[in-house]
Amino acid sequence: MGHGIAQVFAAAGHTVTVHDRSTEALTTLRQRIGQNLTDLGQDAEAAARVFPVDDLGECLAGADVVFEAGPEDLAFKKELFLQLELLAPRNALLASNTSVIPISRIVEDMRTPQRAMGTHWWNPPYLVPLVEVIKTPSTDAEAAQRMFDLLGAAGKTPAMVEKDVAGFIGNRLQHALWREAVAIVEAGICSAEAVDTVVKASFGRRLAVLGPLENADLVGTDLTLAIHRTVLPEIDGRPGPSPYLEQLVQGGRLGMKTGEGFRQWTPDAQAALRKRVQQHLVAMNKADEEAARGAA
Ligand SMILES: NC(=O)c1ccc[n+]([C@@H]2O[C@H](COP(=O)([O-])OP(=O)(O)OC[C@H]3O[C@@H](n4cnc5c(N)ncnc54)[C@H](O)[C@@H]3O)[C@@H](O)[C@H]2O)c1
Repeated sequence: MGHGIAQVFAAAGHTVTVHDRSTEALTTLRQRIGQNLTDLGQDAEAAARVFPVDDLGECLAGADVVFEAGPEDLAFKKELFLQLELLAPRNALLASNTSVIPISRIVEDMRTPQRAMGTHWWNPPYLVPLVEVIKTPSTDAEAAQRMFDLLGAAGKTPAMVEKDVAGFIGNRLQHALWREAVAIVEAGICSAEAVDTVVKASFGRRLAVLGPLENADLVGTDLTLAIHRTVLPEIDGRPGPSPYLEQLVQGGRLGMKTGEGFRQWTPDAQAALRKRVQQHLVAMNKADEEAARGAA
C-alpha cells in the first residue's frame, strides 16, 4: 500500500519520501512505481519524485503530511506514532492507513493527537478512488479538512468519517454483505459460485453509479421499509464469524493462497481474475474521466 500511496502523490506532482525497514522495499521502490505508471499509460517520470530514505528522521524532516502503512499491529502503530510526532515537523498531518484498528487506540499516547487521523486507502491505491478520512474525538476539524482537500487535489475521492468506529464506512458495508454471502452458502441456499454470479450480474453492476441510499430513494423509502420488514428478520444476525468460515480456515481452505477457499483456484484462474479486476478498475476510471469531460 505504501508505494501505491507514494505513487498517487508523485503522479500529482508532489515530492515524496518513503521509509521502510526492508532494504529490498526501498531499492525496488522507484522501479515498482515506474512500472505501475507505465502499465497504466501514465508518465513514468513521476517515479523520480519519490525518494527512498533509510533513516526515519531524515525521511520525515521536511514532511507536510505523513502516511503510515506499516504492519497491521496496534503496538507497532502506537509506538510509531509517538516517533512520528517527535520527528515530523510540528504542523505535519499524521495519518494511519490501518484497515480496521480504531484510530483512537493508535493515537491515545500522543501529545499532539489533534493532527492525527485515519486515511483508509483501498487496494490498489492508484486505481481505487476512495480514501476514507477518519476523525478521532481529538482530531482538529481543520486538520481533517486539510487532508480531505489534499486528497481531492491529488485526484482521489475522499469521504469524511465523523466517528472513529471499527471498519469505518467501507469495510462495515462490505462485510455486512460478506456475512450474508457466507450464511447463504452455509444454509445450502445456493453455491458460492451462484452467490458471486448474483452479485456481479445484478446490483453489483449498478453499485459504482448508484449507492444504496440513492437506490432506496429511487425505489422509494416506503418500498424499502416494506422489503426490510419482510427480509431483515431472515438475514443472518449472528454477532461473530460464521462457523462455516471457521471450518474453512481450520481445514486449510484459505482461498487462492492454498488453491481452495469457498471456490477452487488454479494458478491460471487466479491470474485471470486479478487481470480482470485490474482491467475493470482502469476502464471504470476512464469512464469517470470521460463522464467528467462530457459534463464540463
Ligand atoms: N493490502 C490491502 O489491501 C490494504 C488495504 C487497506 C489498508 N491496508 C493497511 O495498510 C497497512 C499496510 O498494509 P500492506 O498490505 O501494504 O502491508 P505490507 O506487509 O505489504 O507492507 C508493510 C511494509 O511495512 C514494512 N515494515 C514492517 N515493519 C516496519 C518497521 N518497523 N519500520 C518500517 N517499515 C516496516 C514492511 O517491510 C513492508 O514493506 C496495514 O495497516 C494494512 O492493514 C491494507
